Amino acid sequence: MKIKIAKMQPEHIPALAVIEQQCFHTPWSENALAAELEEDGSLFLVAEGPEPLGYVGCKTVLDEGYITNVAVRPDARRHGIARRLLQELQKAAEKQGLSFITLEVRVSNVAAIALYEKAGYISVGTRKAFYHDPKEDAMLMTLFLDKESAD
Ligand SMILES: CC(C)(COP(=O)(O)OP(=O)(O)OC[C@H]1O[C@@H](n2cnc3c(N)ncnc32)[C@H](O)[C@@H]1OP(=O)(O)O)[C@@H](O)C(=O)NCCC(=O)NCCS
Repeated sequence: MKIKIAKMQPEHIPALAVIEQQCFHTPWSENALAAELEEDGSLFLVAEGPEPLGYVGCKTVLDEGYITNVAVRPDARRHGIARRLLQELQKAAEKQGLSFITLEVRVSNVAAIALYEKAGYISVGTRKAFYHDPKEDAMLMTLFLDKESAD
């Protein structure tokens, strides 16, 4: 499968809202995705094959990055798409001079935890009962970045 990683554009939003519905109990709507994309410092990347197959969203505050979502269409999983999205996000974050990228993940989400660990994220703590529907703890995972590679 030939995949291109690109910056998310407004025209990607309808397809990404469908992927949200396929991936999450409480999916983001098209409006929510559009609002996130418009925020200052948002770093959203899409995997195109050529239609959108997955995406990663990251907010930035000063020199800190917060992953808000990573999702890959169920029929496109285990082809390295999420891995590539995280690699490209890391490059973009390093270019911007971010110090770290961090995220929360459900403690039962073994696929995502394995993905993040392979990408170099380490467990830095837990947030008790962070998630609802179903109620569950979150694991906090962080990738510390090399500031030397900033522009
Ligand atoms: C988690 C998710 C994004 C992974 O996407 P993907 O494109 O299939 O992942 P990749 O193919 O890039 O996998 C990279 C590595 O992650 C790990 N991984 C991915 N899926 C896995 C699974 N189902 N079980 C165990 N490990 C898994 C593996 O280590 C894998 O490397 P390998 O294929 O060499 O073994 C995808 O399963 C998804 O969209 N899940 C639903 C949404 C979600 O939970 N998002 C995370 C919210 S924090």
